[in-house]
Amino acid sequence: MLDIDEAEMQRMHMSGADSGQMQRHQHDQHVFHTLLERHQELHRELENLPNGIRTVTTSDNPELAALITEHAHVMHRRLQEGFGLRYWDAAFAEIFARADAVHMDIRNLPNGVETIETSDDANVVKLIQAHGATVSAFVREGFAAAQRESPLPEDYQRAVT
Ligand code: HEM
Repeated sequence: MLDIDEAEMQRMHMSGADSGQMQRHQHDQHVFHTLLERHQELHRELENLPNGIRTVTTSDNPELAALITEHAHVMHRRLQEGFGLRYWDAAFAEIFARADAVHMDIRNLPNGVETIETSDDANVVKLIQAHGATVSAFVREGFAAAQRESPLPEDYQRAVT
């Protein structure tokens, strides 16, 4: 386990996460670690829309395709529940803080997912586009990208101080 993951588990424990949540997080972590580890077998297209993004994330490997699909739905659910993660990275703290202004539609494909993520709030649109670029960096570079902080646009107005 990476140091940053260890710190995350500790943070969750301290903030009163119950054992069910800890187990869920451990499972989710295992899924995105596998995706990061095998990033060279993934493909991703990202298109910025006036109000958000459209993404297509796939793999020719059926096992990885199933993990992409699972991950996208699970993260959507965690956004709706406010069950955040990666708080040390402002872009992730922000997306969970502004989840009420994020709309996400996920369409399952035979080899992954297509997502449309939008907002009516122009500031949140910037955040969604930054997130889309972060996921693309994860696909391109794997753990090397996951270990650094994700960039946010300079003119983005933070909700978390
Ligand atoms: C190669 C690795 C990864 C892949 C292929 C992947 C894929 C995806 C996809 C397809 C989505 C739906 C939105 C979109 O398409 O942009 C998504 C959302 C999300 N992912 Fe990942 N992900 C990866 C790594 C991670 C990691 C390392 C984390 C956190 C530690 C993470 C956390 C999230 C969260 C919080 C969302 C929902 C908010 C958002 O849309 O950005 N993902 N991911």
